[in-house]
Parts: sequence; structure tokens; C-alpha cells
Amino acid sequence: MQEKELKVAVLGAGAIAGDHFDAIRVAKGLTACAVADIRSERAAEVAGIYGIKAYQDYREMILRERPDIAVIALPHFLHKESAVFAAANGCHLLLEKPMALSVAECDAIIEAGRRADIRILVGHTQHYIAENILAKSMIQSGNFGKLVMIHDARHINYFRDERPLWFLEKEKAGGGILANLGTHSIDKIQWLTERPVRKLNASASYYGSRGNVEGSGMIFMELDGGIPAAIVQSGYLGAPRNETEIIFTEGMLKLVTGEGLWISRGGSYEKVENTGNAAPFSLQYADLQRSILNGEDPSCTPEYARNVIAVLEAVYRSAETGTEQQLRW
Ligand SMILES: NC(=O)c1ccc[n+]([C@@H]2O[C@H](COP(=O)([O-])OP(=O)(O)OC[C@H]3O[C@@H](n4cnc5c(N)ncnc54)[C@H](O)[C@@H]3O)[C@@H](O)[C@H]2O)c1
Repeated sequence: MQEKELKVAVLGAGAIAGDHFDAIRVAKGLTACAVADIRSERAAEVAGIYGIKAYQDYREMILRERPDIAVIALPHFLHKESAVFAAANGCHLLLEKPMALSVAECDAIIEAGRRADIRILVGHTQHYIAENILAKSMIQSGNFGKLVMIHDARHINYFRDERPLWFLEKEKAGGGILANLGTHSIDKIQWLTERPVRKLNASASYYGSRGNVEGSGMIFMELDGGIPAAIVQSGYLGAPRNETEIIFTEGMLKLVTGEGLWISRGGSYEKVENTGNAAPFSLQYADLQRSILNGEDPSCTPEYARNVIAVLEAVYRSAETGTEQQLRW
């Protein structure tokens, strides 16, 4: 693969920006050039750490710096307008998940990308986590018999004081725990099994101490081939949890994000050693670089990321109306 040095600018200097800059710093073929944040003191702080330029206005940054890649790490309601602007100015995109607020917004981003002939990678980080990659290869191997069902549980204090308020405003975030973390679970389940969601029922509760978004949700889904999968998420006070169990006729897998992968073939779970230690954000950038150099889609296409949003929209429709939702791809 012939390496060309690519200039990268990051839109948004918030919580996730450091993960991007750390990955860019160690990547061969990438150079960070600038960061933009509406909070100019924060942009200056991050720019100081990484020795790059700071801007307050992301449009000015793109027009002046002309980066090859724009990383969109902004609140969800700004994904569409910034992605369309960056694409129209010739930037390839690393667009943070969830792709946008709605399927219609995702379509506008995809269309802008087609028109500008640029590559778009949506940051579905689940695809790049070592224990997930290993679990996926085990699921695909067929060594555990038939896939029977999956359940995924996530508990986190979602309304903690440090969480920026926009995450808790439906108009800005697109929803609460289900939009932010539920999209990770929907993606994880579909990607691990390579089975899209066909139908679902969902419920949500709204007892958060701030904002107007849901604080918990349950989703009962049917995947392609009739496989049932459940997602349970709570953002209220309780014990933290981030686990997925995949149940087959001849064994079980348990993923604990950040901790590893466990296997049972009948007895207690045993931890799999050496799940690998490649950094997820580095793998994500390598995927985008390959796609830019080869002029092909990255492994996670924007059409796939759009479908995650289609599932999320169906989740909210089901929770609001109490009816089952069918998804047609
Ligand atoms: N892949 C992952 O695991 C992961 C983890 C965390 C966050 N994320 C995603 O990353 C994105 C950013 O999340 P975050 O946690 O960093 O949020 P954040 O609120 O910490 O950061 C967003 C930044 O954008 C800035 N901003 C707001 N409006 C702006 C504007 N008009 N112009 C320029 N800057 C503006 C804010 O000042 C803030 O610094 C979201 O899409 C989120 O879902 C992904």
C-alpha cells in the first residue's frame, strides 16, 4: 500500500477528541493540523497539547486548512450540517456515531459524500475492539453449534453532573441512553452476527434528573433468520455493567467490554487470554486510510450506519405507540 501523508482536522474538542488525536499521533501517514471548538479556550487547550492550530469556527478551519480528513466529534444535531459542509469542501469523513439525528439526515450525508466522491467512515467503535473481533470470528466459525439468542445489558449513571447538557436534550442528541449507547448495542449485535434487525418491540422510561430524554429502555428484536436478541439499558443509579451474552446450542460466549471475552462449553465461563491489544481508534483510522487510498468504502459503510439509525427510529416508534415495528432493508 502506497502511503500518502493525510492532513486531519478535528471538529469538536470535547471528551472523545483526545482518543482521536492520540490515534492520529501514532498513525503512519496521518498528521493532525487543527481543531475547532465553539469554546475557544477548550480548542486552544487541546491545540496546545497536540501542537496544532485552534479555531472557534469549524467552517473557517476547513476553508483555511483544507484537511484531507475531517473528524466530526460534535454533538449529534451538528453531524449533518458539518458533514455536508466538510464533504462539499472535499474532505473525507470520520464521523462519530450515531451517524445523525434521523434517517433523512443520514441520507443527506450519504448524498453529499457521493456528490463529492469522498469516503465516509462512521465511528462504530465496536467493530475495532479486540474481544469483539475475536468473538465475531468464533460466532462465524460455527464451532458452538446453532446460534440461539443474544442479550446485551448496559448500566451507567447517565444523568451524572459532568455529562454535557446537550446529551440530555432530545432535539440535540436525538434521544437519551438508547440513542447514545443503544446504538452501540444495536450495532454490536448486528455486526457480530452479520444479521440485520427484522422487527422489534421496545419500551422506554423518562425518570432522568435532567433534560427530556429517556433514561432506560428495553428492546426485544428479531434478527435475520428469526434469532431473538434483547437489549436492556438503564441510566439510573445502580451497578455499572456492559455485557453481551451470545447463546448457542453447544456453548456460550460472554463479552465484557473493556475486560475481555469468556467461553463456556457446559461448565463455568473461562476467560480467553490474548484477545489482542490493538487500539480500537488506531484500527478505525487504518480502515479509513485504506479506503481513501484504494478509493473503496471502509469496512463500516455509511449505508450500514444509516441502518442503525433506522433501527433506532423504529425503537422510539415502538416505545411511543406500543406496537411492533418491521424493518425493511
Ligand atoms: N465512539 C465512541 O465510543 C464515542 C464515545 C464518546 C462520544 N462519542 C461520540 O462523539 C461525539 C462527541 O461526543 P463527546 O462526548 O466528545 O461530546 P462533548 O460534548 O464532550 O464534545 C463536543 C464538543 O463540541 C463542541 N461544540 C458544540 N457546538 C459546536 C460548534 N457549533 N462548533 C464547534 N464546536 C462545537 C462543544 O463545545 C464540545 O467541546 C458524539 O457523536 C458522541 O456520541 C463516541
